[in-house]
Amino acid sequence: MNSFLSLLLFSSLFILTLSHNNGVARTPPMGWNSWNQFACNIDQDLLTDTIDQIVSSGLADAGYKFVNIDDCWSYKNGRDNKTNELIPDPVRFSRGIHSLSKYAHSKGVKLGIYGDVGFTTCAGYPGTLDHFQTDADTFARWEIDYLKLDFCDIPKKVQDEPWVYFGYMSEALNKTGRPIVFSICAWQPKEMYKWARKIGNSWRTTDDINVSWQSVLSIIDQNRELYPYAEPGSWNDPDMLEVGVVRDGRSLSQNQARTHFSLWTLLSAPLLLGNDLRKIRDPDQKWVFDILTNRDAIAVNQDPNGAQGRSLYQNIQGKIDRDGNCESKNCTRTEVWGRPLTRPTKQSYAAILFNRAGPNVDDEKFTQEKITIRWSSLGMPSDAKVRVKDIWSNKDLGVYQGSFTSEPVEKHNVVYIRLEQQ
Ligand code: GLA
Repeated sequence: MNSFLSLLLFSSLFILTLSHNNGVARTPPMGWNSWNQFACNIDQDLLTDTIDQIVSSGLADAGYKFVNIDDCWSYKNGRDNKTNELIPDPVRFSRGIHSLSKYAHSKGVKLGIYGDVGFTTCAGYPGTLDHFQTDADTFARWEIDYLKLDFCDIPKKVQDEPWVYFGYMSEALNKTGRPIVFSICAWQPKEMYKWARKIGNSWRTTDDINVSWQSVLSIIDQNRELYPYAEPGSWNDPDMLEVGVVRDGRSLSQNQARTHFSLWTLLSAPLLLGNDLRKIRDPDQKWVFDILTNRDAIAVNQDPNGAQGRSLYQNIQGKIDRDGNCESKNCTRTEVWGRPLTRPTKQSYAAILFNRAGPNVDDEKFTQEKITIRWSSLGMPSDAKVRVKDIWSNKDLGVYQGSFTSEPVEKHNVVYIRLEQQ
């Protein structure tokens, strides 16, 4: 057996004994979260509109079922005097959170909420430390379906043993009897998986994403070695999507957004949209909608085997500095990523041929590149015959023996292919 397959087999056997098994998130969660576009500027009207839009636009049918409220939803000045429970902001969420979850459920989608394992949330709202069961019970009573628990304002004991405190919440959620996706947001790439996958359905692997190509690249690089730890029910979380987000006048280009989405689907990442869904049906947002609803890309992400894509090879030519700039006359920087699939057949795979180039797309030292993938790098026999489908153009490219070489790939763009061994 080749090394790729044996590693996959080994890692799935290993994880079967360790992964969190609360029955939810058997494929990566898909939905929307308020933070990337709106930060603290949230209220019940935005959430209601988003629930309406995620359904009426067709995004829910494409798989995006969670509408998640991030930080700043609660009353900032404290808990209820008598019950010690968290209170929704009396002005911005005057109808309460339960009314929102009832509304979401009446439309066939789910509602998520946000908390913090420390004294206060990252934006300074009451945290959950010492109130784990109270808050889990409140969320369950409000019929919440997803909890993101953050890591700000923590005492040393939580810093030293985060697994104990996230573990309290995991147990408290289980005790409620309500299936709630538990998303751990402790932004530590190093060895998080050793504890997080036993108690959570996903764990953030990096600092916060922002609307920049550099941020997307840095997160891709930090997730490169984490493929053995993803498994149905337990996912590495490289943070939420920036496709279509416009913040402080910044946005990703169409190629960059397509690359970002392609990698996140291949990496078995939770797919949480960050853009303003009230605009998703505007004509100038059609490209955003088309990226987010590509059926084949979503099918890769949701494949039941839960295998996280891995970096197969990188081709770096010329002298490239730490920031990715070319210091020679010309440079090439391409990458090939891949993963096995179980659909449409057991001999299916997905691969990304990525022209990473330099940090600036107009840098003429980098050019468009043809990129080759050899079937042996995915564990197929080196003379295998493989049917290649282009995911973004939706074209059948034919059957190729041994390898496939793309047409020139634009800078910061990918060719994303689905493969079926014949
Ligand atoms: C942290 C998290 C973000 C977001 C903010 C909210 O920075 O990593 O995703 O939830 O807190 O304050």
